[in-house]
Amino acid sequence: MAEFYSDEFIEEVRLNNDIVDVIGEYIKLEKRGSNYFGLCPFHNEKTPSFCVEPNKQYYHCFGCGQGGNVYSFVMYVENLDFLESLKLLAERANMQLPEMGSLLNKEKENLQKQLFQINLEAARVFYKSLFDSSNIVAQMYIKNRGLTKDVIKKFGIGYSNSNWDTLSTYLLQKGYTQEALLQSGLAIKGQNGKLHDRFRKRIMFPITNVRGNIIGFGGRVIDDSMPKYMNSPETLIYHKGKELYGLNIAKNTKQKRMLIVEGYMDVVSLHQSGIDNVVASLGTALTQMQGRVLKKYSEEVVISYDADSAGQAATMKGIDILNGIGCKVKVLSIPDGKDPDEFIKKNGPEKFKLLIEGAISLVEYKIRIARKQLNLEDMDSKIGFLNTVASILVKVENNVEREMYVNRISKEYSISVDSLNAEIYRLAEGNNKKQQYKLMTVKPKVIVKDSKKNEINRIIQNEMLIMAFICNENSVFQLIKERFKPEEFSDVNKATARVLYDRLTQNKGITAAELLNIIDSKYASVFTTEIQRAHSDGNVEAAVLDVFRRIELDKLELLRKQVSSISDNEGDVELLNQLLKEIRLKKKK
Ligand code: CTP
Ligand code: MN
Repeated sequence: MAEFYSDEFIEEVRLNNDIVDVIGEYIKLEKRGSNYFGLCPFHNEKTPSFCVEPNKQYYHCFGCGQGGNVYSFVMYVENLDFLESLKLLAERANMQLPEMGSLLNKEKENLQKQLFQINLEAARVFYKSLFDSSNIVAQMYIKNRGLTKDVIKKFGIGYSNSNWDTLSTYLLQKGYTQEALLQSGLAIKGQNGKLHDRFRKRIMFPITNVRGNIIGFGGRVIDDSMPKYMNSPETLIYHKGKELYGLNIAKNTKQKRMLIVEGYMDVVSLHQSGIDNVVASLGTALTQMQGRVLKKYSEEVVISYDADSAGQAATMKGIDILNGIGCKVKVLSIPDGKDPDEFIKKNGPEKFKLLIEGAISLVEYKIRIARKQLNLEDMDSKIGFLNTVASILVKVENNVEREMYVNRISKEYSISVDSLNAEIYRLAEGNNKKQQYKLMTVKPKVIVKDSKKNEINRIIQNEMLIMAFICNENSVFQLIKERFKPEEFSDVNKATARVLYDRLTQNKGITAAELLNIIDSKYASVFTTEIQRAHSDGNVEAAVLDVFRRIELDKLELLRKQVSSISDNEGDVELLNQLLKEIRLKKKK
C-alpha cells in the first residue's frame, strides 16, 4: 500500500521544524540583518553566500543558486526522497507519524473521530442548557457581562449545569464508551468507579481548531468560586501549545494584523464590538508553535495582554518568541481597566481601535518597561537605564531605525547621543563574533591602522565602487572583466567579486543589495557608501576606468612603501626607482 500523508500533516511537520534550526544543525550560520548566512553545503566556497531567511522559511545560495524550504534542504543534504525527509523531520520534531494502514493507527484515528463527535455533542448540550429555563443564574451572568445572542451563537458559548453527571449519562446513552468519554477529558472517573462530568456550573467556551472542529473547552465559574477557569486536559485532539482560541473565526478577517489577548472573554467581547482580528493564547505563555501559526495568518501581531504584572511578563516573553521567529510585533497597552474586555466595556470600541493604532514597537515597549524602574534623581539608576537601553538598541539591526531611537531617547531622557552611541558600540563590539551589526553611524571609518592604511583603505573602497558600478551597468562588466579579475581584488573583496563575476558570466543579474549580504559585515557600511557613490552623470565607462587606474596607482604606492622600508639594499633601490618611474607615468595618464 502506497504511503500517503495529508497536506495538513506535511504542513504541520514543516511548521515544527524551523528552517534556521534545521540548517543550523548542518552548517554554521551567522546572523546578518534579519537573515542568516553560512557556507553553502551544495557547492565549494570560502565565504558564505548561503542565505537562510527565517521570515519566509526558505534558503537561497547566492553562489550556486540552490534554494528551497526545509524539505528540499533535507532532501538534498541527506540525499533522501520526500517521504524519507518527511519522516526525518517528523521525528526531529517528536511528531508521531500517522503510520498508514496499521491497526494501531486505525484505532487511534477512530478514537480521534469519536473525540471530535463527543466534543460536538457536548457543545450542543451546553448551548441548549444555557437557554434552559432552569438555568436562570447562567443567563443572568451572561446578561451582566453584556454578551449578545449573536456572539453566543458565533462562539457556541454554553453552560454546564450543576448536576454531577448530566453530560456523561447523556453521552453514554448515545453509545459512546466510558473509555472515549475519559479520553475526551469531559468525564472523570470518581472513587466509586463511576463517571462524572469535569465541568459543572460553568459558562462553557468551546475551543476549536483552525478548521472549526471542537477540540476542548474552557469553563468559567459564574460566581467567585475557584478555580475561575477550568480547561480540558491535553487529549489526542487537543494540544495546548498549538491552538489559539478564536482563530477559526479570526482567520477570516480582512485585517493584515492579528491581536493576541489572554482570555476567552477578551476575544468574545472584542468580536462583539466588531473587532474580528483577535485570538487568545489562553492563559499559557505563548509558544513558538502558536507564534508560527499566527504568522501564517497575519503580517503583524499586536500583543494585547492584561495590564497587570503577569500580563507584562507574558508580553515580554511573547515579544521575544514572536520576534525570534521573524514576526512583526507590536504591543498595545491598556490604560484603563484590567484587560481589553474591561476597557471596551468602559470606553467603547472606537477608543480601543485608537489603542490598536497606537500600539508601540517592541523596542519602545522594552524601553518603557526599563523607564518604569528609572529614578532620575539617582546617578546609578540613570547609568543602569542607559545600559539597558543600549542593550535593547544594539539588537536593532536597521541603522536608520536605531538612529531614530537613539535621537528620540537622548531627547526624552536628556542623555547625549554620543554617550548612548558609545555604549551601543561597546556592546556591539563585545559580541561582535555572534552578532555582526552594521553600526554605520557609530563605527569609525578607519579600517586598517598602519602606515599603509590610506592606500589599502582606498583600494578596498575603490574596488567596492567598481563592483557597485558593475551591478548598475552591465557594460562596465564587459569593460573591466579581463583587466581586473576576481583574484586580483583585495582579500576583503575577493569572494564578493567572485560571486559577482560568476553571476554576470552566467548572464544572471545581481543587485548591489544582494552583494551587501555577501560582503564581510564589518565592511558593509563602507560598501553602502560606495553604492551611493556609484552614480555617474557622464561617461560611466570612463569613470570606472579612472577608478581602476587609481587602484593600480595605490597598489604601486603600496609596493613602493614596502620596498623603501627595507633599507640598505642596493637591489631594492633600483627596484624603487623603477617603481617611481611607473607611478609618475601612470599619474600622467
Ligand atoms: N485561565 C485559566 N485558568 C485560570 C485562570 C485563567 O486557564 N484559573 C486562562 C483562561 O483562558 C482565561 C485567561 O487565562 O481566559 C485569562 O485569565 P483572566 O484574565 O483571569 O480571565 P478573563 O478571560 O479576563 O476572564 P474574566 O474577564 O471572565 O475574568
Ligand atoms: Mn477579563
